Amino acid sequence: MTSINEQPIPAARPVIGEEEIEAAVRVLRSGRVVQGPEVAAFEEGFSELVDGRHCVAVNSGTSALHLLLLALGIGPGDEVIVPSFSFAASANAVRLVGADVVFADIEPGSFGLDPAAVEAAITPRTAAIMPVHLYGHPAAMDKLMPIAGKHKLAVVEDACQAHAAALGGTPVGAFGSGGTFSFYPTKNMHSLEGGMVTTADAELARTLRLLRNQGMEQRYANEIVGANMRMTDVAAAVGRVQLAKLDGWTEKRRANAAYLDAHITTPAVVTPPVADGARHVYHQYTIRVRGDRDAAMAALTEAGVGNAVYYPTPIHRLKPYWEPDQKAGRTWDLPETERAAAEVVSLPVHPSLAESELERIANAVNTLGAKL
Ligand SMILES: Cc1ncc(COP(=O)(O)O)c(C=O)c1O
Repeated sequence: MTSINEQPIPAARPVIGEEEIEAAVRVLRSGRVVQGPEVAAFEEGFSELVDGRHCVAVNSGTSALHLLLLALGIGPGDEVIVPSFSFAASANAVRLVGADVVFADIEPGSFGLDPAAVEAAITPRTAAIMPVHLYGHPAAMDKLMPIAGKHKLAVVEDACQAHAAALGGTPVGAFGSGGTFSFYPTKNMHSLEGGMVTTADAELARTLRLLRNQGMEQRYANEIVGANMRMTDVAAAVGRVQLAKLDGWTEKRRANAAYLDAHITTPAVVTPPVADGARHVYHQYTIRVRGDRDAAMAALTEAGVGNAVYYPTPIHRLKPYWEPDQKAGRTWDLPETERAAAEVVSLPVHPSLAESELERIANAVNTLGAKL
C-alpha cells in the first residue's frame, strides 16, 4: 500500500515548464502565431535527429501519417501492410486515404512488424508497408527495407513513439520513403499537439508542404487539392524548447530502463527485450506479465505505481475494422499480436523519476510473483 508520504507515481509526466510557457507567450505577444518563423526553425532543428532529412511540421502525428500517405499517392485500390498491435491512428490514416489495411503479425521481441509475416501479406495491390516503432523500439528495418525494395513498395515509418531511436546507427524516420513523428504531450517530446513528416526526397517534401497548406506555395496560386494541417508557431516554439532537452531526457529514460532491467528480478514478468543494434528510447517501459495481468495491475496501483496497457485491443478487433472484416468473412491470423495485447503492461519510465521512485517500482514488480 502507498504510505502517507508516498505520492502515487504517474505513468507519464508531461513537461510544461517555465521555458515552454515563456516561448509560447513570446510568440503570442509577437502576433505571428501562424505561418511565422518558428515552424521553419523547428523543422530545421528536428532535421538533425533524422540525419538531415527534409522535415515538414504538421498539427498532429495522425496528420503526419495522413499527409505522407496522400503525398505518396496511396489511395483507393491500394493495400498498406500495418501491424494490428499499435495505436489505431496507424491504421486509421490508411483508411482515411481510402486504401485498405492489411494486418501483419509482430515479432515477439521487438513488438514491431515481423518481416516474414509482411512478406507473406504482399499482394499485387500492396503499395506500402507501415512499420511502427512501438514503445520507442525500432522495428526490424534491416529486414523490412530489403523486402520493400524487392517488391518496390513505399515504406511509411510510424515513429510517433520513437524520437531519436535508431537501428544500426540509422535514426528512425531516416529509413523509409518517409517517417512520421507525434508531439502529443505524453510523447518523449511534445509541442502541445503536433507532428512531423521526414523524408530524403526533396520532391516528396515539396508535395507534403503543398498538401499541408491547401496546395499553395504562393498565396492563392493553388497547385493541387490540399488540406490545412499546419502547425502553429506557438506549438513550434514549445517544440523547439523540448527538442533542446530531448537528448538529456532520452538518456534519463534509458538510464531508468537500465535500472529497472537490473532490479526487476521476479520470473512473474519479462522485461523489455532490445534487438541487436537497436537504440531503444523507452517511450514506454513495457513488461509482459506471466500470470493474471488484472491482478498484477491492481497490485501495482495499490502500491502507488502508475501502469497502463498499450494496447488492450489490437486494431483488427476495433469496431471500424472488425465489423467490415466480419461482413466480408475476412479473418487475420495474428497470434503474437493477440498474446502481446493480453500480456503487456507499461510502467513509469519518464525522465522526472527519482531513484527512490525507481526503487519503489522495482520493489512493487518484484513482489507481484506471490500475488498472481
Ligand atoms: C504509434 C502511434 N501512431 C500515431 C499516433 C498519432 O499521433 P497523434 O496523437 O499526435 O495524432 C500515435 C500517438 O498517440 C502513436 O502512438
